[in-house]
Amino acid sequence: SRAEACSVVIFGATGDLTHRKLVPALYNLAVDGELPPGVKIIGFARRDKSDAVFREGLAELNREVSRNGHDEAIWADFEQTVHYHQSEFTDLDGYKRLAERLDEIDRDRGGKGNRLFYIASAPEFFDEILENLKAAGLNQAADGCWARVIVEKPFGTDLPSAQHLNQVVNHTFEEKDTYRIDHYLGKETAQNIMVLRFANSIFEPLWNNQHIDQIQITCAEHLGMEGGRGGYYDKAGALRDMIQNHLLQLLSLVAMEPPTDLSADGVRDEKVKVLRSMRQWDTPELVNENVVRGQYAAGHVDGKSVVGYREEDRVDPESMTEAYVALRVMIDTWRWSGVPFYVRMGKRLPKKATEISIHFKSPPNVLFNAIPGAATGGNVLVIRIQPDEGISLRMVSKLPGASLRLEPVKMDFHYSTSFGKGSPEAYERLLLDAMAGDATLFARRDEVEEAWKFIDHIERAWHESSNAPEMAEYTAGSWGPKAADELLEKSGHTWRRL
Ligand code: BG6
Repeated sequence: SRAEACSVVIFGATGDLTHRKLVPALYNLAVDGELPPGVKIIGFARRDKSDAVFREGLAELNREVSRNGHDEAIWADFEQTVHYHQSEFTDLDGYKRLAERLDEIDRDRGGKGNRLFYIASAPEFFDEILENLKAAGLNQAADGCWARVIVEKPFGTDLPSAQHLNQVVNHTFEEKDTYRIDHYLGKETAQNIMVLRFANSIFEPLWNNQHIDQIQITCAEHLGMEGGRGGYYDKAGALRDMIQNHLLQLLSLVAMEPPTDLSADGVRDEKVKVLRSMRQWDTPELVNENVVRGQYAAGHVDGKSVVGYREEDRVDPESMTEAYVALRVMIDTWRWSGVPFYVRMGKRLPKKATEISIHFKSPPNVLFNAIPGAATGGNVLVIRIQPDEGISLRMVSKLPGASLRLEPVKMDFHYSTSFGKGSPEAYERLLLDAMAGDATLFARRDEVEEAWKFIDHIERAWHESSNAPEMAEYTAGSWGPKAADELLEKSGHTWRRL
């Protein structure tokens, strides 16, 4: 890869993301020999800690979550590159000390002053961190070097706050040095959507409203509000937490026109056009017709009983925050006119699975209409994003035997059997890309803002309108509220069973 040596400074280094995702990703890159030699990792956070204590905490989590296991010898080398820097996020002096420390590291490494700032703190500090980086001169790179920033989610909580954050980011770093992370774009199977569509010739001619009846995107999670997550989640909700970013990104990859090239702007120009073409559900009536929100009631998941959303730790007992959303998205373009995209996401569903299914129109019903099994429906192409990564195509076939009977069968591609090894974690790829200066798999300013514009109308109808659409209930461990089924039934569709 073209990733270059640099110092990676992680703000919010004592948090969950650093321990569960970022450092294990860097460690696994090191194991695979992908991490450029000379990368240093500096954890910036408020708590007082020594390097040794910081490293020990990281090792503990790495043992638990690392994709390639935890090799004590490799870790021992790796952890030498990890340091801790204690400072308040609001204390400019801490950033000046950081600048000195980075200069020292650069001198030791032989003068290469590349810096990658990763902002993974609580969101209320994003602005201040950026301002302080600028005040300490850390946003400027030395000659021939670069300074880049990765901004974690949530990127704002609505359009105005996202615009504000974009302003702060853009007056601190240039857009080309700004990497708004959406880890779904780093998933191997999400990257494969463009390849499936544009490196094969049999799908794209059918990829339009002439041949496609409807498209579904489902992201099911079995988790609820473990580990104190309710505090953040109850202020966000499913729509902000996952639809605004991850699922609308997947949708734009499925719906985009072929880009003119694979450059960051080539790809993102096409994605943003999709987001811009989404029909706006901008009245409470339209929201009512096209969007369903829900909360889980107590139930059973994975064989154990779990509490309802409002009983969760750090969730308001009268909360009006959704842990489930299902919506119909209409993309008003020549290609997609009339094709509904059904998108749903929920906590405490029966299992963890994300998939996209493309439902093709049924063939003319003239030959087999009197034959048993003929009504089983048309072709469905399923892109399994996770965890059982792969693609399957449903076809109708003759059931072997003397009489003519039809039955659906499946052609199935599994990453695990075809490639024989697990895919890298999304964060591995994204960190490498940022070190290489490739922003293709990161969200551009206009993408983020277009997505918020769409989301804001729905939030407004839910929280500010006097005839707000209601909050549906579903039992934890079920596939969501009845209203979500009804949303599709209106158009003669049903959710695919996962
Ligand atoms: C995060 C959300 O961005 O993505 C979480 O905040 C969600 O609520 C997570 O659980 C899902 O990521 P993944 O990669 O496990 O599907």
